[in-house]
Amino acid sequence: MADLDDIRDGKNFGLGQDIESQGFYLKGCDNMGWGMKERMARIFRPGSGRTVMLAFDHGFIMGPTSGLERIDLSIVPIAQYADCLMATRGMIRTSIPAQLGKPICLRSDAGTSILTELNHNVIIDVEDAIRMNASAMAIMVTAGDPATEAKTFANLYNLVDAGQKYGIPVMGVTAVGKDMARDARYFGLASRMCVENGANIVKTYYCEGFEKVVAACPVPIVIAGGKKLPELEALELAYNAIQAGAAGVDMGRNVFQSDYPAAMLQAIASVVHDGQTPAQAYDLFETLKNGS
Ligand code: R5P
Repeated sequence: MADLDDIRDGKNFGLGQDIESQGFYLKGCDNMGWGMKERMARIFRPGSGRTVMLAFDHGFIMGPTSGLERIDLSIVPIAQYADCLMATRGMIRTSIPAQLGKPICLRSDAGTSILTELNHNVIIDVEDAIRMNASAMAIMVTAGDPATEAKTFANLYNLVDAGQKYGIPVMGVTAVGKDMARDARYFGLASRMCVENGANIVKTYYCEGFEKVVAACPVPIVIAGGKKLPELEALELAYNAIQAGAAGVDMGRNVFQSDYPAAMLQAIASVVHDGQTPAQAYDLFETLKNGS
């Protein structure tokens, strides 16, 4: 029987005060279940509604490229400054200490080095994503590429089914290739296709007219950084994307290929979360890189 010792009658029922509707602060997410919202809230800071994801999944198609030769040496020391870590299960399991406590956006398609074979209808077993306590699963799609579009969108569709079953959001990652345009028309098409096929987050690239891409995409968009730029230019890229409505960044090379990756990650966060201008963020970068 329950312990009834000193059980008192309740008094604080807030009579006359309606229970407030909690709503949700991310676009397109009102109708998610609780578990999915909790995972989104681990990725996108409730205070700003934005995120700084650190992407280091490049090795799954490119091998140990510059900055990613040793994840334990390059990524682990700076991971504390990111809101979320995006990588494959292999690198997370082997190289990221679980006690870091960072939410994981798990790369959930299969890496191949021959691009025409990209992600050939293989996705992660969702039970493995659950075992890894993934806060989201990421998958790449290749809109407009005759050789791979159907396969990659089938992957996205299947991953969304698995994610919906267990409350794990899916991030659609829009690919770019040498034959693909890099304009608002293409990224708008690719982003919208991701959402229409069920993605809860879209990762794409900043471009001229990006506000139209964001407007037509009813879920949070984060941008990739692309090739390494001088730090000020990378901060301008992040700033422009945020001004156009992006909910954050998922950057890789512009962080881990910087000579001062911890300073760079914090400078990016100041743009994304604190509304700093590129010049202000660059000042912060300079200050932090000099260790003062
Ligand atoms: C692409 O498949 C990957 O998702 C990369 O993580 C992505 O391109 C972001 O990295 P970067 O900022 O280096 O472009």
